[in-house]
Amino acid sequence: MDSSDEPGVTGVMVIEPMGNAGRFLAEAAARLGLRLYAATDEQVHAGYEPWLTHGLAGVCLTELADTERALDDMEVFCRDHRIAGVAVCWELLTPLAALLAARLGLPGNDPLRAKAARNKIVMAEAFRAAGVAAPAGAVVTGAEQAHAVAASGRLGWPLVVKPAEQGGSWGVSVVAGPDGLDAAVAAAGRFTRAEPHGLPLDSRVLLQSYVPGEEFSADTVVHEGVPFPLPVVRKDTTAGTYRVETGHSCPAGLDARTVRAIQDTAARAALAVGVRNGIAHTEVKIPPGGGPVVIETGARLPGDNICEIVEAATGVSEAVAYLQAVTGQLPHIAPTRDEAAALRFLLPDRAGVVEDVLIPDVPGTHSHIDIRPGQRVPEPADSSGRVGHVVARAASVDDARRLAGQVIADSLVKVS
Ligand SMILES: Nc1ncnc2c1ncn2[C@@H]1O[C@H](COP(=O)(O)OP(=O)(O)O)[C@@H](O)[C@H]1O
Ligand SMILES: [Mg+2]
Repeated sequence: MDSSDEPGVTGVMVIEPMGNAGRFLAEAAARLGLRLYAATDEQVHAGYEPWLTHGLAGVCLTELADTERALDDMEVFCRDHRIAGVAVCWELLTPLAALLAARLGLPGNDPLRAKAARNKIVMAEAFRAAGVAAPAGAVVTGAEQAHAVAASGRLGWPLVVKPAEQGGSWGVSVVAGPDGLDAAVAAAGRFTRAEPHGLPLDSRVLLQSYVPGEEFSADTVVHEGVPFPLPVVRKDTTAGTYRVETGHSCPAGLDARTVRAIQDTAARAALAVGVRNGIAHTEVKIPPGGGPVVIETGARLPGDNICEIVEAATGVSEAVAYLQAVTGQLPHIAPTRDEAAALRFLLPDRAGVVEDVLIPDVPGTHSHIDIRPGQRVPEPADSSGRVGHVVARAASVDDARRLAGQVIADSLVKVS
């Protein structure tokens, strides 16, 4: 018997569960007694790992880059499988999820505003309209325009140059002066399609004024338009031209008032991009002496194992809360634990072929290696340059950070 025939069992359709958050969604669906279904492309499905294949009750094969076809295929599939909600892991697919939920009459996000959660140019307009604090910016299509904007002095230096539609810090650079601008604009404008689905991208480039200060992320689960704040996470990044995450830790090590201010700002950002029944992952920086400024928000669960860090520290499962929201239930957001967790990535010094990798096995930590000896690792300019990571758990966030930092300091990554 098909699982969807069992009385009382409903399902959730995840548009492309392959990715960091997919694992947490599969676990959360099992906890909630929900069947998990995937929509994906045939050739992407062929590369699914066993943990994902085993977690799925069924798969709708379609072509996610063809919006009309994907909507038609998924609509038929969802009606056949008693689907109670639509979820998504990939930022670029969040507008498609909003359209599907609307077609099916399921709880979802505002399809008319959903593009603002994917495209940073539309996002900046949405933030401006809603009065959400965000960096001043300008849109350009080439280096000449970028030089003209820079010469106007309106955005100051350094300038942040980034693609309109991308993630994982791909193509993002912080430029100190006019000399670096040509390369930065070329790096940001080089994306026309996103793999593995071949989704067409807006290849315009966004220039932003640089926001100094510490960086945090705060997620917001939204039920029927009402935002519920989730724990704030401290984000560590590299400091130069490329801002790559080096780690995440929770709790954020901030006073209660600052945590509240970040959560309020994140909630306002989520609503501004049309999140109504779902989750948003918002990144903010706090300039010295100022309030939180939103760098970006996405209508999706966080990546980078942030779901694991938050649950280890607070007992809150963001994936459970998200599935509750997309199936129209009140999300569970109350912390049940008061501990701490920190994640640190292992990055190479430079690009090359990995010769040797070692992350020591230390009590209170666990680690994972992504790039094995013999494989090529790119320069750590974006999230593809990670060799592995370690997660440390402790009673206090300082201890967790120290432990994770020590493990990374004692790790080895040799490239040739
Ligand atoms: N305007 C800005 N001011 C300061 N830092 C920024 C700014 N924009 C981006 N960054 C840095 O670059 C990182 C990546 O940029 P982001 O806009 O989040 O792109 P992505 O979608 O690739 O994550 C951010 O996490 C932040 O550290
Ligand atoms: Mg980001």
